Amino acid sequence: MKLTIIGSGYVGLTTGACFAEAGHHVVCVDNDEAKVASLLAGEIPIFEPGLEALVKKNVSAKRLRFTSSTEEGVDHGEVLFIAVPTPPQADGSVDLSFMEKVAREIAQYLTSYRVIVDKSTVPVKTGERVAHTIRRHAKPGVEFDVVSNPEFLREGSAVADLMKPDRIVIGGNSDRALALMQKIYEPFMAPVLVTDINSAELIKHAANSFLALKISYINALAEICEISGADVLKVAEGIGADKRIGRSFLNAGLGYGGSCFPKDIAAFIAISEQLGLPFNLLKEVQSINNRQIDRFLDAIREALWVLKDKKIAVWGLSFKPNTDDVRCSVAVTLVERLVAEGALVSAYDPKAMEKARELPFASKIQLSASALEAAQGAEVLVIATEWPEFASVDLAALREAMHTPLIFDGRNLLDPAAVRDFGFQYRGIGRGVVAERG
Ligand code: UDX
Repeated sequence: MKLTIIGSGYVGLTTGACFAEAGHHVVCVDNDEAKVASLLAGEIPIFEPGLEALVKKNVSAKRLRFTSSTEEGVDHGEVLFIAVPTPPQADGSVDLSFMEKVAREIAQYLTSYRVIVDKSTVPVKTGERVAHTIRRHAKPGVEFDVVSNPEFLREGSAVADLMKPDRIVIGGNSDRALALMQKIYEPFMAPVLVTDINSAELIKHAANSFLALKISYINALAEICEISGADVLKVAEGIGADKRIGRSFLNAGLGYGGSCFPKDIAAFIAISEQLGLPFNLLKEVQSINNRQIDRFLDAIREALWVLKDKKIAVWGLSFKPNTDDVRCSVAVTLVERLVAEGALVSAYDPKAMEKARELPFASKIQLSASALEAAQGAEVLVIATEWPEFASVDLAALREAMHTPLIFDGRNLLDPAAVRDFGFQYRGIGRGVVAERG
C-alpha cells in the first residue's frame, strides 16, 4: 500500500521504516529541511538498534523516501499517519498545535479520499477535533476518515516492538477506513483490536499510566522494604510470579523518566481534570516517582555529609539502557541536582555522551571516556542507568580507582554480596537493611 507519515521524529521514522520493511511504499514528511536532507544522505538522527540498517535497506529498495513537502505526502499516501510531537504545556496538558497545523495542511491538499490517522499520543476526543478541522479547511465534498492508531513502541527496542507488536489498536467509525487499516497491518500478523476512536485514544494514556503505576507501586514498596529489612527484588519476584500481576515493570529504582511516561501521566491527569473527574491515584504515582530521587539524594548526603567539592562518579545518563535519549532522564536530573549542591561530578554513559555535551550544565561536569575513568578518585559511585556493561565491570579495578569504596546503585544492577567481597559498601533501592547486613 502507499502510506505517508507526517513527522519524522522517533515514532514517525521508526514506523515509516517498519511499514516499508513490511512491503508498503512509504513517504516520510518532515518540515525540518535539514533533517530531511540528512535522512536523504542516510544519516539517522537517533540511536535505535536496527533502525539505521532498516532505513538504508528500504531506501535502496525504493520503498522508503523522505520529503519536506506535505503536498507530495498527501498526494502519495492512501493513508496519512500524523506522527508529530504533542509536547506538554506548563500545566501538564498537551500542546496540540502541531496536530492542528498538520490537519489544516492536509486539508488544503486533499483532492480525493484519504484516511488520516492520529499516531501521536493525544488526549481522548482529539480525533473528533482533527476531523472537524479538516472538514472546515478542505474543499467541499472531498471525502476522508479519521482513525486513531496509537503506537506502543519502547525506545531501545522500537524496531522489534513495531515488527512484532503485542497488539494493534485501531479506533474508527468507518468500515472503509478500518478495512484499509487492517490491510496495512496484515503483514505484521499481530492481534488487532478494533474500537471506536475515543477508546483507542484513551487506551494509550491508560496503558502508559498503568505501567507507571506498577513502577511507583514497587518503588513505594521499596521504601517499606528498606524500613522493614526486606529485599524488594524478592518481593517483586514473589508478587510477579502471580500471572495476574506479572514480573515486568516491577523494577524498583530511581523512578521512570523519558519522553513518554512523565509527559503522558501529567497529560492524563490534566485530561481527567478537564473531564471533571480528577484521577488522584495518578497524582500519587507522580509524587512517589519524584520522591525516589529525593530519597536517594538524602542517602548520599547522609553518607558524605556535605556534597560540595566531593568527587562523585555517575554511571549512566540516558533515561534507560539501549538508548542515547537523555530527555527527562532521571539520571540527568540527579546529576543536575548534585552539581547544584557543588559536587564534582564525573559522568559516563555508553551511548549518550554526545547528547550529554548539549546539556545546560555540561561545562560544569567532567564527561569521562569510560566507566573506570569516571570512577577515578571518586568518593562515591552512583549507578543511575542499568547499562549491562556496568554489571560486568572489573570490581578489583574499580576498587583500585575509587578514593572511597562506596556504591549507590540507583537501579539495583549489582549483586550486593559480590561487591562487598571486593570491600565496597553498597546501597541499592529497597534492599538497604538486608543488603547492608549481608
Ligand atoms: C514507554 C512505554 O513502555 C511504551 O509502550 C510507550 O509507547 C512509550 O513509553 P519508553 O519510554 O521507551 O516506553 O520506555 P520504558 O521501557 O517503558 O521505560 C520507561 C521508564 O520507566 C524508564 O525510565 C525506565 O527506567 C523506567 N522503568 C521501567 C522502571 O523504573 N522500572 C521498571 O520496572 C520498568
